[in-house]
Amino acid sequence: MARTALVTGGTRGIGAAISAALKEQGCNVAATYAGNDEAAAAFTKETGIKTYKWDVADYDASKAGIAKVEADLGPIDIVVANAGITRDAPFHKMTPEQWHQVVDTNLTGVFNTVHPVWPGMRERKFGRVIVISSINGQKGQFAQVNYAATKAGDLGIVKSLAQEGARAGITANAICPGYIATEMVMAVPEKVRESIISQIPTGRLGEPEEIGRCVAFLASDDAGFINGSTISANGGQFFV
Ligand code: CAA
Repeated sequence: MARTALVTGGTRGIGAAISAALKEQGCNVAATYAGNDEAAAAFTKETGIKTYKWDVADYDASKAGIAKVEADLGPIDIVVANAGITRDAPFHKMTPEQWHQVVDTNLTGVFNTVHPVWPGMRERKFGRVIVISSINGQKGQFAQVNYAATKAGDLGIVKSLAQEGARAGITANAICPGYIATEMVMAVPEKVRESIISQIPTGRLGEPEEIGRCVAFLASDDAGFINGSTISANGGQFFV
């Protein structure tokens, strides 16, 4: 039976590759986005994947959006909390607004995405929760006090959910992508990006599809004994 999957931030970058990989695996996929209607329309045209618009930072909007997805596609079996933003600045220049925007989206957004689907997963005794964290949540990053804090927090969420969901057939795992060739990384000044690439033993940025395939595996029935883990996909840039 086809599983239903929800991917937040699922129309661009890593999220688009995750949505496509889950579809390829036979899932019914719903991809969310926050604002870029044009990119979402192009994504649907290319992949046939249905998109939904809401802000993951808003609990009520997430709950209502998830209810709509479930009415359209059926109960959500797989949830991929991928939506994330950066507001990089050295700490002495970081504003409270930059702090709150990132925390609201990257950390509270994970709560808002998983909390509404959790009771249904518990009842049905099956669930896959996959949170897209980051290498920078593992090692910290210059100009990313806000982002690194949320990505480290994501790992705490996963490790706790893994314990709570295990007996109900739910697994929760995190993936920590390294630097992947997406708009987010391309927005880093070229000189800084080149210096980052020089620190990656494979000598290249990762491809979004390489993260998509990790998610597809964790979402599969074959991954039922993997719970509470963190998969690093960073070309060898950082070992935990
Ligand atoms: N390590 C050490 N020093 C650094 C540095 C780094 N990684 N990056 C910048 N600096 C230095 C600069 O060389 C500069 O030093 P000098 O003044 O001596 O020249 C100083 O720090 C910062 O200078 P500015 O005051 O001009 O900084 P700014 O306010 O203009 O901010 C910046 C610039 C936002 C930090 C910019 O350099 C930047 O975007 N850096 C990249 C940050 C980064 O790696 N973000 C990751 C994005 S990708 C992502 O997040 C996805 C993922 O999960 C992996």
